[in-house]
Amino acid sequence: MGLIQAQRGTRDILPSEIAYWQQVEAAARTILHQAAFEEIRTPIFEQTDLFERGIGEATDVVGKEMYTFQDKGDRSLTLRPEGTAGVVRAFIEHGLHAQGGVQRLWYIGPMFRYERPGTGRQRQFHQLGVELLGSGDVRADAEVIAIAVDLLQAVGLNDLQLELNSLGTRDDRIQYRSLLVDYLMPYKADLDPDSQDRLTRNPLRILDSKDAKTQTILQGAPLLGHSLSVASQERFAKVQQLLTNLGIGYTLNPKLVRGLDYYSHTAFEFQSKQFGTVGGGGRYDGLIAELGGPETLAIGWAIGLERLIGLLQQLAPSQPTAIDFYIVSRGEAAEAQALKLAQTLRHAGFVTELDLSSSAFGKQFKRADRSGAAACFILGDAEAANQTVQLKWLATGEQQAIAQADLPALADTLHEQIARSRNDRSTTTV
Ligand code: HAM
Repeated sequence: MGLIQAQRGTRDILPSEIAYWQQVEAAARTILHQAAFEEIRTPIFEQTDLFERGIGEATDVVGKEMYTFQDKGDRSLTLRPEGTAGVVRAFIEHGLHAQGGVQRLWYIGPMFRYERPGTGRQRQFHQLGVELLGSGDVRADAEVIAIAVDLLQAVGLNDLQLELNSLGTRDDRIQYRSLLVDYLMPYKADLDPDSQDRLTRNPLRILDSKDAKTQTILQGAPLLGHSLSVASQERFAKVQQLLTNLGIGYTLNPKLVRGLDYYSHTAFEFQSKQFGTVGGGGRYDGLIAELGGPETLAIGWAIGLERLIGLLQQLAPSQPTAIDFYIVSRGEAAEAQALKLAQTLRHAGFVTELDLSSSAFGKQFKRADRSGAAACFILGDAEAANQTVQLKWLATGEQQAIAQADLPALADTLHEQIARSRNDRSTTTV
């Protein structure tokens, strides 16, 4: 029987990379907590209708990329391709709007899209997202964008391009849609096949085409911005002003339309050279009512964590988990005492790894060196007999004997010594 491997488009996140994930998650928790956002966890699968109605049947996500299946009860279920629809469903189902005011929610977790796997593109990937529900104020737009910028900067990504556009209201888009179709129809045969298909299903998405010939044709196309009502234009100008006041740089991209149907007014993306879009979002003022909830204005974004972490990995090497003590022991009595010593040290707050091999001391010392521990405790027959341990600092080779009974009282001193030995070995951390 062949070896079972991870599915195409899925990846194991191994311990060697986990520091990046933990760093991003920690930064997100701090920044989102400070911004009074609360975490929400929604199910990984939902009724298929939720995404068809929420994201839009004409989108690639719904049309081509959903993991949809019938369960044993013959229900059509779908692995969530994104987080917004599920959050909105939960918002409506639990009457969160009844609590009044604004709901500020965030989430992190796996999403699923049946896409062709490639650089920064997977079938199971992770998003970190925020949704601010219950405000149409322009300050909400600036606030959520500012939080994304804060987060990206906190993890060290200062050079992503923020691209900004306004998709206006539904009426603005209906008007623009017919202008765009009128313009493109005569060129239909010259458009790439995807764009030809979109001409009837979802013409705005043609603006997003990467095809060179289509892009040339689009150069003469009417711009969405010109179809915006005066109120939509004024609204967009205010959002830009607020971002400028906050010192947030952006470029206007009149062709930015986003891949999901629920957007209106402000839409934005964070672009990187290597992975293209790292994150994106926008206002979705009609979605909550569309899904059966009360009229609620809302805005949010999601960042793709594989892409974000891909960028971080290029900035700084990963730092393995810092171990404080590595315990080396040999001989029956010593090994039993070492097990107990490990527990004593852990209870005193030290990260402690116990060598379980019973191999020769030399081999255990080599592993102690490789573990990155600050120091190692050594127990042999002699130490076991007189209830002591040898403490050896691995950077200097300095060694001392300590009575096992004295260890709890020495905890503070040892914590200080470890901190000092780490400072001495100043390394780049992620
Ligand atoms: P989205 O632009 O479809 O927006 O996805 C957000 C991010 O998820 C993308 O910028 C990208 O980094 C990541 N992503 C998407 N597909 C893949 C994939 N196949 N592999 C790796 N990463 C991927 C949304 O999903 C919206 N729900 C965002 C939002 C929240 N809008 C309002 N609120």
